[in-house]
Amino acid sequence: MYTKEIQREMVGFKLNGKPRKGYVEPRLLLSDFLRHELGTLSVHVGCEHGVCGACTILVDGKSVRSCLMLAVQAQGSHVETAESLASVDEMSDLQQAFRRHHALQCGFCTAGILMSCVDFLVCEPDPTEEQVRDMLSGHLCRCTGYTGIVRAVLDVANERKIKLENKNFV
Ligand code: FES
Ligand code: FES
Repeated sequence: MYTKEIQREMVGFKLNGKPRKGYVEPRLLLSDFLRHELGTLSVHVGCEHGVCGACTILVDGKSVRSCLMLAVQAQGSHVETAESLASVDEMSDLQQAFRRHHALQCGFCTAGILMSCVDFLVCEPDPTEEQVRDMLSGHLCRCTGYTGIVRAVLDVANERKIKLENKNFV
């Protein structure tokens, strides 16, 4: 019987600031590599075809669906997941706002939404509600009805604006 040998390739990248590497099949999805082989459990896998947004991460600062990327495509890049958001003793401003505004329930969608928000607020530091809702249209949340999430994102944008104004004033 003929069995084809599975070819594996080395892939290496920075994950939340630390170098990680492994041998992967070229067809392995980045989401599966992160979650199952590197133990990055914030990367949730829902639809596996780019619709639900649960697997969203940052690659070189841009939000991407990790289920639409192959692990080998991340070679040499900077990958960030929700594990990168909090420091040892403090949640990020976005995480705190999500808690304040009850922007999560089961949490399945939350890590992906947070990563989209990180990228979004860099591109749109002073967004309108419509822009926030437009960004969230790329994420499915079955629990919250989105209202709390919208409030949390607008609250963070406002907080950051006030901080920047105060800093410029000093
Ligand atoms: Fe990637 Fe749904 S699992 S978008
Ligand atoms: Fe449950 Fe969004 S909080 S899916």
